[in-house]
Amino acid sequence: MIERIKKIQEEIRDFYSDNEREIEEFRIKYLSKKGLIPSLFNDFKTVPKEQKSEYGKLINDLKNTATEKLDSLKNSLTDVSHTGAQTDLTRPVANIFNGSRHPLSVVRNEIIEIFQRLGFIISEGPEIEDDDHNFGKLNFPPEHPARDMQDTFFIKRKSEDDSNPSDILLRTHTSSVQVRVMENEDPPIRTISPGRVFRNEAISARAHCIFHQVEGLYIDEDVSFADLKQTLFYFAIEMYGKNTRMRFRPSYFPFTEPSAEMDISCTICGGKGCNVCKYTGWLEILGCGMVDPNVLEYCGIDNNQYTGFAFGMGVERAAMLKYQINDLRLYFENDIRFLHQFRSAF
Ligand code: PHE
Repeated sequence: MIERIKKIQEEIRDFYSDNEREIEEFRIKYLSKKGLIPSLFNDFKTVPKEQKSEYGKLINDLKNTATEKLDSLKNSLTDVSHTGAQTDLTRPVANIFNGSRHPLSVVRNEIIEIFQRLGFIISEGPEIEDDDHNFGKLNFPPEHPARDMQDTFFIKRKSEDDSNPSDILLRTHTSSVQVRVMENEDPPIRTISPGRVFRNEAISARAHCIFHQVEGLYIDEDVSFADLKQTLFYFAIEMYGKNTRMRFRPSYFPFTEPSAEMDISCTICGGKGCNVCKYTGWLEILGCGMVDPNVLEYCGIDNNQYTGFAFGMGVERAAMLKYQINDLRLYFENDIRFLHQFRSAF
């Protein structure tokens, strides 16, 4: 009997746990009403007289040890300073990954921030547009082949038959937002429209049916092509580095006249020629031009008093050049190993 109590005493002394459930099990096993210690107190009656005093002392000790143990284990649960890990201030903290912005957001924000420094403000508009805002007021005549430049997703109405096709569509560029700005505001206008656009193209490494643009518009008295060039030159240097050179090639857009496409010297080889610039030394980054006077008129702006310039660029393309990403599809797959590589203040 005595031997048994000594064994239990040892067991209790050696017990340790920082787990709430295990500590509760300890309490139940030794101290609860049906636990071991109360049952030893019950056995006291059956102990021979001559052993009673030794036995009594032992079980009282046992009870004290168990209660003390239980109290100290419970305290260490609430008092964190008892755990060694908390007091070791040199211990490295657990690595918490805070997430990162999507590379397209990083680059879009960077583009926006550069134009904001020049006083451009952000305007946004609907992704589901009507023909008028996406084409009509931008000087795309009906049936004009220029509409085919941007393969459009049209949205069918429920009641529609083919003789009366829909004029509701997914916007093919964010120029539609600028039409809305011109309709609603008086010059001077200085705005950029970032947003998602849609074109019916087969998905490949170089094309996608969804992509992102930032387009800009500046309307005031006496705005000239020189203003356009200087603004975009500033942008190119801020975005791609101070050694960036640029060139303009004549182009065609229905809503600008004259129109141009702007190239910058290759961000990889600096213009010497490499496989990224296909050995030309140049990379195309945006379309631009002077706003066609027709567009101003359609949007209610006096084209005798005001002139303006506009430009538009693809965010995916800008990010490709900046980070040398060679496949557009990576932006949409959201593979965490790809996304983790982009950390930025923007
Ligand atoms: N909206 C044109 C596009 O999506 C880009 C552009 C904007 C060109 C403004 C000229 C001026 O291709």
